[in-house]
Amino acid sequence: MKRVLVTGAYGQLGLALQGAVKDSNLDLIFKDKNALDITNAEEVNKVFATQSFDVCINAAAYTNVDGAESNKELAYKINSTAVETLAKACKQHRCWLVHISTDYVFDGTLDGPYTPSDTPNPLNVYGASKLAGEQAIRAVGGTYSVVRTSWLYSQYGNNFYTKLQAQLDAGKTLQVTADQKGCPTPAEDLAAHLLTGIANQQLVKGISHYCGSEVMTWLDLARRLFPNQEVLEWGGTSSPPVRPNKVVLKHNNS
Ligand SMILES: NC(=O)c1ccc[n+]([C@@H]2O[C@H](COP(=O)([O-])OP(=O)(O)OC[C@H]3O[C@@H](n4cnc5c(N)ncnc54)[C@H](OP(=O)(O)O)[C@@H]3O)[C@@H](O)[C@H]2O)c1
Repeated sequence: MKRVLVTGAYGQLGLALQGAVKDSNLDLIFKDKNALDITNAEEVNKVFATQSFDVCINAAAYTNVDGAESNKELAYKINSTAVETLAKACKQHRCWLVHISTDYVFDGTLDGPYTPSDTPNPLNVYGASKLAGEQAIRAVGGTYSVVRTSWLYSQYGNNFYTKLQAQLDAGKTLQVTADQKGCPTPAEDLAAHLLTGIANQQLVKGISHYCGSEVMTWLDLARRLFPNQEVLEWGGTSSPPVRPNKVVLKHNNS
């Protein structure tokens, strides 16, 4: 049975992976930030030197898109420098690195779905830091899969769905922007895609895309998720920071 290290165990994807583990034929070892801070190279190297893993899923990231604009150094430290450290450790210990990236590496100006080989051009610090992480992995080499996804949501952690649910619980009327389009992706689906792809060795090596199949606005998604609630359109815009108006990821096999 493959031994799979999962970093960022208590983030949204980490929790979705914990939820999916019973259906997988894998031995998953979950480490949250306290057990393994990926920005601590010494700690990372020690974990890889003392334990043996066939695969490392890096579910740890700096994901605060707005916050990254004023915390550029921290965003790059977690999304790029630490990713390079992980990639080096994986290469040294012959471990397959599975890393998650984002649709925000693109600027949204392409008229149609983005393929994995389209040229990235991030509009914000978060997207740029994630792109730097991808580039670091490619430069290090070794065996890796970078899976770009978009608009993750789930019952887990802090995300679009849980934020709206909290507003409803507080008795508020939902107001949601319709100024961006993308492909919402249930975190559970991404978790299942990763675990199945690892177990059957079918997960694409190099860069691939995985996202939900429907293109919609955040307003559309809110109305889909809460069909019995009134959801008003919020007239403001999501910028700053700059966000792409529309990014649709094309799957490798679609
Ligand atoms: N959420 C989306 O809509 C979306 C869209 C496209 C791509 N992605 C990508 O998908 C992946 C998973 O995202 P997510 O939604 O699960 O993010 P998340 O909920 O923010 O989870 C990220 C986790 O990483 C942890 N972390 C932060 N710094 C760390 C460090 N130095 N060492 C170890 N762990 C650390 C965080 O812990 P703390 O919270 O304690 O800091 C958090 O538990 C990320 O790579 C993200 O860029 C997400």
